Amino acid sequence: MAQVNGRLAVLTGGGDCPGLNAVIRAVVKTALKNGYEIYGIENGFNGLITGTMKLMDYQSVSGILPRGGTILGTTNRDNPFHFAVEENGKYVFYDKRDEVVKNLRDRQIEALVVIGGDGSLNIAAKLAAECNVNVVGVPKTIDNDLQCTERTFGFDTAMAMATEALDRLHTTAESHHRVMALEVMGRYAGWIALHSGIAGGADVILLPEIPYDINSVIRKIEERRKAGKKFSIIVVAEGAKPIGGELSVARVVEGSFEPLRLGGAGEKLVREIENRTGIESRCTVLGYLQRGGSPTAFDRVLSTRYGVAAAEACIRKEYNVMVSLQNDRIVTEPIAKVASKPRLVPVDSEIIRTGRQMGLCFGD
Ligand code: F6P
Repeated sequence: MAQVNGRLAVLTGGGDCPGLNAVIRAVVKTALKNGYEIYGIENGFNGLITGTMKLMDYQSVSGILPRGGTILGTTNRDNPFHFAVEENGKYVFYDKRDEVVKNLRDRQIEALVVIGGDGSLNIAAKLAAECNVNVVGVPKTIDNDLQCTERTFGFDTAMAMATEALDRLHTTAESHHRVMALEVMGRYAGWIALHSGIAGGADVILLPEIPYDINSVIRKIEERRKAGKKFSIIVVAEGAKPIGGELSVARVVEGSFEPLRLGGAGEKLVREIENRTGIESRCTVLGYLQRGGSPTAFDRVLSTRYGVAAAEACIRKEYNVMVSLQNDRIVTEPIAKVASKPRLVPVDSEIIRTGRQMGLCFGD
């Protein structure tokens, strides 16, 4: 029998994201190549609590590089420190850390790779600090809002999807002389809206970081009309809100790491534009199309680099870090530093200035 150098495990947590399978594939292949056994934990932290995991081999990751979603399954509930169970129509919360530690010890798993966004990486950091679990994080989210890295994987794919949607909205907006708004995801950060808006040639981009004045948006639409441009394209981040106004909340998901789900900012905006200008205005919500499907070539490469780097960190026993991209190099950062607060678009950044020079309206 071949010598086993050690045993690792990998899980995917939070919302799914293009590139998850590419990371899993890279982690598993690197572990196996270096004589490690590796468990795939099913359905995020749920599988860690219940002990639902299986040993992975080359066959288990064959053909998954271009596939969207995650072969391991995921959930954004099931926090082991605050595990929600519905009892008599009410949620009761339990601490499941002992189950997690036991499941890892029973299988002699020495380190756990957590592929996740801020919610999952927060839990990973807590497992490291309070339960002595060795963790390595991989920054996942289409929102690109994690501290300590220039890029999360999945963002490029979401941005490409939103840009394609804007190209398509352009032709229909132009034909009908309408105002067309595209509502994109991103939670409290405007990265998807900003980048897709610039790539898709939008006229107005509304970001959570810059509360908007509806008068400024209407002025832009009317200026365009006067210049003979009878249509306008607006990108609205789901976290955008008017000056002094509230976030648009679509629902509250009990037992989730992050219970508020945003949605509705685009519809609210187009209704107001139509009421005030009389111009026919429509909103398209891009929603989960930004998260589903095949990752772009950029995300496949980034995910593969992250996966290899995460497995390598485990092998050299550099624990309690997150792999990160800085100046096109993959480095590591203490995982405890990552989870503090979301990384927002700096309002005085070069890319915002670029947009302004291009005549874009940010609603301020
Ligand atoms: O964090 C990724 C993300 O897609 C956000 O952009 C969005 O606000 C949220 O997840 C949606 O979460 P859910 O999948 O729970 O509806």
